[in-house]
Amino acid sequence: MSAIYLYPGWVRLWHWFSALLFLVLLLSGASMHYAGTPWLLSFKLAVPIHNAAGILLTLGWIGFVVGNLFTDNGRHYRVRWRGLMGRLVAQIRYYGYGIFRGAPHPFKVSAEMKFNVLQQLSYLGAMYLLMPLLILSGWAFLFAVYLPESLFGLGSIWIVAMTHLAVAYGLVLFWMVHIYVITTGETVLTNLRAMLTGWDRESGTGASAGPSESAS
Ligand code: HEM
Repeated sequence: MSAIYLYPGWVRLWHWFSALLFLVLLLSGASMHYAGTPWLLSFKLAVPIHNAAGILLTLGWIGFVVGNLFTDNGRHYRVRWRGLMGRLVAQIRYYGYGIFRGAPHPFKVSAEMKFNVLQQLSYLGAMYLLMPLLILSGWAFLFAVYLPESLFGLGSIWIVAMTHLAVAYGLVLFWMVHIYVITTGETVLTNLRAMLTGWDRESGTGASAGPSESAS
């Protein structure tokens, strides 16, 4: 059976580094938001951990954007507008209905595109909309003393806090859907193995499997 290389080393490094930071941020963020809850971290400990992880996540995100600008991986994030609606409907029908009836996956991975349209749009939304908002609001929080007293008649710290919280919830939602979707490949572990090794087995179907560059 041939194998395909889908996830270059820098993508895997960035991904697992960010996934770990995401969990640390979630735990330390919840510890501050629900301060005093016995099974969470103390507020005093959560603050420096959250700040340090947020700074590292920012650096990782910059690496992700630069990597996608200057390497081939970026092509997987370019939306193909032609036939977009048709592909969206087919993918939604598959996830909502076909997958439970053993229908064939409507998307075939190619060297040009490893993501189906829903994966692509959710990754674009998470990485190029939610993450920048999370990072910006996080840094605004970090330097809150320099913020104006009010913005649009509302307390600016309140706006920053609400943005940060709402976006964090949005990313948690993304993460939960992400964890489910990665189990819908050829087998439950196919996509996870691919993100660990870079290599996937050729199948032409699945959430992220199909023909690409090389064979073994
Ligand atoms: C423990 C948590 C996580 C696990 C187990 C996990 C697992 C995976 C796996 C198996 C893939 C490859 C399949 C695919 O491309 O769909 C993947 C890709 C991806 N994940 Fe995650 N993930 C986690 C957390 C996250 C988080 C927190 C983010 C972002 C905030 C994220 C963003 C992405 C992106 C953007 C890709 C595509 C990368 C590329 O090939 O360009 N993941 N993830």
